[in-house]
Amino acid sequence: MSDKKYLFANWKMYLDHSESEALALALAKKLTLPEHIVMAVFPSALALSDVSKTLKDTPISTGAQNIYWIDKGGYTGEISAHMYKAAGCTYALVGHSERRHIFNETNHEVRQKVEAALAASLVPVICVGETEHERQSNKTEETIETQIRSAFHNIAWPENKELIVAYEPVWAIGTGQACDPVEAERMHELIKKQVIALTGVTPVILYGGSVRPENVQQYLNNPNISGVLVGAASANIESWEAIVDSFR
Ligand code: 13P
Repeated sequence: MSDKKYLFANWKMYLDHSESEALALALAKKLTLPEHIVMAVFPSALALSDVSKTLKDTPISTGAQNIYWIDKGGYTGEISAHMYKAAGCTYALVGHSERRHIFNETNHEVRQKVEAALAASLVPVICVGETEHERQSNKTEETIETQIRSAFHNIAWPENKELIVAYEPVWAIGTGQACDPVEAERMHELIKKQVIALTGVTPVILYGGSVRPENVQQYLNNPNISGVLVGAASANIESWEAIVDSFR
């Protein structure tokens, strides 16, 4: 297992173009990163190209929040994986729970996006997580296993391409109700076993859901939690710096 720690910032739709640029500039100027930290920011599609340019000479990568699986054509409003790659992206979030639940993205669509990301040489960050209702009905493991199986069965994972999964329980996202770290570690272990059984590749698994400067350390101490995918607390330089400091 790698000793690297992953610190991914999903800016969602919190920042407009000029706010994204201002935050990217602040990161480029202020942040010095130890070598074991892998950092990426996921700005809005509109800001991505400029943010990628601003961060070009820094160790911070960029990623797309969503991709479409067809390269080009009459798909009004969509942006393909290749287009994101050309705009400077290294990563792409795929199947974020806000995509699955607000925009009704299915497991099948998520799979198509995983394949499109790989074909465009992006590293997909495959997001999985159960709703509160699924957890209360004892369907947590079943839900996660279905999402993982659909994303990875019969896939030929390219050699030397990282396989990154984010475990983001839906009930923990944006609620201030973070998942208990012991439970998060249990879920990460389960996901790891399943991914290895399906692909033969040891995944990097990130935790996401109400990560804050005050609780981030509790996640990082666990052997199967390789980092965090942060929403609200990543869209502001003070809280992001405080989170980065926990990784030093
Ligand atoms: P919050 O950190 O705002 O709960 O969001 C988590 C998330 O959805 C990251 O992708």
